[in-house]
Amino acid sequence: VAVHVLNGPNLNLLGTREPATYGAVTLAGVEERLKAKAVAAGVELTFRQTNYEGELVSFIQQAGLAGAGIVINAGAYTHTSVALRDAIKGTEALAIEVHVSNVHAREEFRHHSYMAPVCVGVICGFGVASYDLAFDAIVPLLQKRLA
Ligand code: DQA
Repeated sequence: VAVHVLNGPNLNLLGTREPATYGAVTLAGVEERLKAKAVAAGVELTFRQTNYEGELVSFIQQAGLAGAGIVINAGAYTHTSVALRDAIKGTEALAIEVHVSNVHAREEFRHHSYMAPVCVGVICGFGVASYDLAFDAIVPLLQKRLA
């Protein structure tokens, strides 16, 4: 079982960016936590970040075509990008959308996600633990899909 954790724009600033909203853990810290979980679960983990929409499309395609599960925090592209949605749909990727913050408790423009309808589910509002919850959720779904 393989899981790709994909991060979009500004998530490279996690830990220093708006700490009241996003907390103090860095993206490298998130990666360390997930690596430990992946080793324990026997999962092959790929962890990536980009600030470019097209690169995120390519990351999704690579994961989807390889049959890997996707945990994706697309940042602001969540609310703007039809291309990300089409990449998930077009590769029939098993994906979970995650957000550190509770997007529904924030500005109206963060309430809509283009990706959510093509994801299995959405996890938001649990800080960086949103990633852990998504990882725990996707592993059995992938095992079931491969069985
Ligand atoms: C975010 C929420 C988005 O609305 C925002 O644009 C981000 C981060 C989150 O993890 O809470 O960049 O995806």
